[in-house]
Amino acid sequence: MRIPENKVDEIYNAVDIVEVVQDYLPLKKRGSNYWALSPWGNEKTPSFAVSAAKGIYKDFSSGKGGNAINFLMEMEGYTYPEALKALAKKYGIEIEEAEESEEVKERRDRRQSLLIVNEFAAKWFHQQLLESDEGRKIGLSYFKERGILQTTVEQFQLGYAPDSWDALTGEAQKQQYQEEFLTELGLATRSEKNDKLYDRFRGRVMFPITNQVGKVVGFGGRVLTSEKQMAKYINSPESSIYHKSQVLYGLSHAKQHIRNEDLCILTEGYMDTIVLHQNGIQNVVASSGTALTQEQIRMIRRFTKNVLMIYDGDAAGVKAAMRGIDLLLQEGMNARVLVLPDNHDPDSYVTEHGSTAFQTIVKDGAQSFLDFKLNILQQDLSLSDPEQHAMIIRALASTLGHIPDNLQRELYVKHTAERMDISESLMAGAVGEAMKELARMHKREARYQGPRTQDAPPQEAEVKELKAFETLELARQEKELLRVLINHHDKNFDLKEAGEIEQVQLVDFFMDELEGLDFENTVYERLKQEVFEAYREGKSFKVRHYLSHEDDAITHLVTDLLTIEHTPSELWKSRGVNVPPLDANLSLAVQSAMYHYQRRKVKKLLEELREKMKEMTDENEDEFFEMLLYLNNLRKEVTEKLGIIVEG
Ligand code: CTP
Ligand code: MN
Repeated sequence: MRIPENKVDEIYNAVDIVEVVQDYLPLKKRGSNYWALSPWGNEKTPSFAVSAAKGIYKDFSSGKGGNAINFLMEMEGYTYPEALKALAKKYGIEIEEAEESEEVKERRDRRQSLLIVNEFAAKWFHQQLLESDEGRKIGLSYFKERGILQTTVEQFQLGYAPDSWDALTGEAQKQQYQEEFLTELGLATRSEKNDKLYDRFRGRVMFPITNQVGKVVGFGGRVLTSEKQMAKYINSPESSIYHKSQVLYGLSHAKQHIRNEDLCILTEGYMDTIVLHQNGIQNVVASSGTALTQEQIRMIRRFTKNVLMIYDGDAAGVKAAMRGIDLLLQEGMNARVLVLPDNHDPDSYVTEHGSTAFQTIVKDGAQSFLDFKLNILQQDLSLSDPEQHAMIIRALASTLGHIPDNLQRELYVKHTAERMDISESLMAGAVGEAMKELARMHKREARYQGPRTQDAPPQEAEVKELKAFETLELARQEKELLRVLINHHDKNFDLKEAGEIEQVQLVDFFMDELEGLDFENTVYERLKQEVFEAYREGKSFKVRHYLSHEDDAITHLVTDLLTIEHTPSELWKSRGVNVPPLDANLSLAVQSAMYHYQRRKVKKLLEELREKMKEMTDENEDEFFEMLLYLNNLRKEVTEKLGIIVEG
């Protein structure tokens, strides 16, 4: 359901962020803000701040922040409309269906239709399992054999796809579900040979895969025979409602338990998840045979920072665990690993030994990521051989280099140095090297992401470093400009031009001055474009639009730009220096920020142009010189303007 814009307004007007947060955290007033211990960290001094005036929160320990909506999304794992609905309920606001644009409606209707078709298929598979002869004889008895209880079959809506070419397809068409949806969802395929529509899942037990709020987005279907030529699992393909990298099997059932236990147990398979749930271990999800992704980790992070991975002890499992560890650490999570004895997987272990034994082995048998990695390394390498010893140290250092928190990393360095019987400084050095290598790798990746840097010719190392620094500086200035824009877009200020003083609105000034200058940072550029576009279309500027943006990166950025911080003047005052706040001399501050940015940007564009001129040909010569002239003029102008504002 879409919530009408005027209702959204009403909700926003009613919401008091302090009230909303207080439902979860005890807040204490200090200065103009409210503070609490971060719900996402283990801390002794509060780093979670709420500004009632601005309607936002900021968690300095995790970097999270936003308005009341974002807070509920974080705490409850809600989507944006769900959070709005929860607030409407809290404040007694009734919401009803709304008119919406054709395009939005179509896209939403399409997603809705896909969900409805999946819902139908899940119900139908479930019904086949419980009510059809074939389903009961083959599917249900299979589940029984594996110890699955009726309640579990219900809870996870397990099903059975009959061994027929068109049982589901026939029923779907009878009920007038469109072929287009059936094929996009991978429930049916049209044969190229005889142009018939066929069921894709045949003679398999079915596991519906649900998203975080319990909607069926896809299926996994397991064969029942052990014939080697048949794939053990057929899974739904990616579709506009199913993005494998963003789904964790079982999360809708597990999320509350993950929060309560403050631990997420990560398994590999559907059966593992289901069987553990059945045995009362409910803080469990599965990555479903795919490598763990950053998106999945971020979904878990909404509920806990602690992850226990249970992987097979085979080579593939170990490799997956190693990758998982680095990714988890990089996202600021605590990672532990459990390898079950005797080639057990969680399903077989809990079935054989019971849930108490499982709880015990989770508690006592789980290894820190460090011990796990060390044990694996020691299977092939020996600490008594100096060369191999060094390899082990470097491998461990590479993992430790992923930990973003300095203090935590230091502690691990100390611990590892002891284990490795080397000095702490040596270990720290190895980790430092690993971090440098990682940073280089990230920088390389970042370079190849933006279109601007994509075709940059290879450079000597030093030039590269210098350029990276310049790019960082530029991005810093871009961010400063955005901060001014977001906070002061509607203010007027005095602009001195050609000896005359003119009142201009800040956003107009920005649009003029930034014409043709793209921000280096793509997120900054997107925000800038969007603000300008909205302004051109005459829409009123609403901060809240950006605080609940469909693009997470924008939400984070704007929160950051609005955020509760020590203003420079406060900081300097504490050091005995008096700096006028931005508002006191907006004119000077804005122009200074703009012209300094332009100077650096033009310098960069000129350098890039010179670089490209190496490839100048007779045909494009004119273009190059025109551009050169233009940029040189621009540089002169900017320099003059800077001179004027500096003189005052
Ligand atoms: N998987 C898959 N395709 C395969 C094999 C595995 O998609 N051909 C995924 C499934 O999500 C499966 C998970 O990887 O649940 C783990 O695989 P595996 O351990 O082989 O299967 P189990 O789920 O443990 O199945 P079972 O216990 O029934 O053998
Ligand atoms: Mn298994």
